[in-house]
Amino acid sequence: MARVRSEEKLAIKGGRPVRETLLPYGHQSIDEEDIQVVVAVLQSDWITTGPKVIEFEEALAGCVGAKHAVAFSSGTAALHGAAYAAGLKPGDEAITTPMTFCATANCILYQGATPVFADVTADTLNINPDEVANCITEKTKAILPVDYAGHPADLDPIREIAEEKNLIVIEDACHALGAEHRGRQVGGICDMTVFSFHPVKHITTGEGGMVTTDDDELAARLRRFRNHGIEGDARQRQANGQWYYKMVDLGYNYRLTDIGSALGLSQLKKLDHNLSRRREIAAYYNVALKDIPGIILPKARKDVSSAWHLYPIRFDQSSFRAGRAEIFAALRAENIGVNVHYIPVHTHPFYRKRFGDHSGKYPVAEAAYETLISLPMFHGMSDLDEENVIDATEKVFGHYA
Ligand SMILES: Cc1ncc(COP(=O)(O)O)c(C=O)c1O
Repeated sequence: MARVRSEEKLAIKGGRPVRETLLPYGHQSIDEEDIQVVVAVLQSDWITTGPKVIEFEEALAGCVGAKHAVAFSSGTAALHGAAYAAGLKPGDEAITTPMTFCATANCILYQGATPVFADVTADTLNINPDEVANCITEKTKAILPVDYAGHPADLDPIREIAEEKNLIVIEDACHALGAEHRGRQVGGICDMTVFSFHPVKHITTGEGGMVTTDDDELAARLRRFRNHGIEGDARQRQANGQWYYKMVDLGYNYRLTDIGSALGLSQLKKLDHNLSRRREIAAYYNVALKDIPGIILPKARKDVSSAWHLYPIRFDQSSFRAGRAEIFAALRAENIGVNVHYIPVHTHPFYRKRFGDHSGKYPVAEAAYETLISLPMFHGMSDLDEENVIDATEKVFGHYA
């Protein structure tokens, strides 16, 4: 197909957009089978936490090679559960990356502990293990690496530091269901791994999350925490005709429903397909964009298989006559639903107010943020959608070159 020429008038300046309707940066795919399994649950006795949750947990644990999987009502709730299970409390510190969604750092605060940020590496924008090592104090209790954009963090050196200092590693793999790190499935590598099933992710339950772990005690703590701090299983109690239960710690109602779990089970069958489609789109973008001077493509290291949740490009500011705000607005005007992942967490007003202004302290993350733009990336994209993205990227960057 002939490419749109960069001399064509930009939509933001009154020209014709590359496409007529907005292509979002991410979107769920729901098929007839998904709908039917949800309808079946709605017609059954259990619509909240019941047999489908257990089935979904077992299927996901099997899929990632973990002993336990504990379902939560969102990825954020799952992160909170993991922070609790790790024993984070006031006075403790936990190290994480500024290049993430704020939920990663917020879960440390939910437990009254203090997030300590460590800068990222320039190639993957994942947390830099050397920076992690520099942040360790006697208060450090946990490390929370994030698999940014679906590319697993540099887990081996992080786990070595954790082992040496007796720390818990909570991997935020909300972007990385199906990713591999040195031949191992993400989900079975760290003490706990957290997934999200938000609609833009690889599979969806509407809202939902999961923590996987091989540790029996951590799994028991996670189960208790998502159900008000109550020991045991309500369904089992009802089946045994028992009314007595013990609340042994302060927990929350973070339960996933059977409605969501049935959808998750049906979606999980399509995970392989969704991953290969995302990898195909990434490969297409890699080839189609590699010759645009000044654009920096996301890098995949040799020893990983990324799950490609996002496709974040950066650009060399000196090669273009416009900054990110202008380029972003021009791409949106072409009806390409670009986004930005992420505003470094420490720069959010809440974090500034609570911890002071630390701008300049994480130069790699902060410099990356200045030019980051996520191009649309989801498994339901058509070939034409992909071409539209490339056409608009060539048109806009070509215009400002
Ligand atoms: C890295 C990361 N962590 C945590 C979350 C929170 O997940 P959820 O939206 O399921 O609460 C997200 C959400 O997109 C995320 O991107």
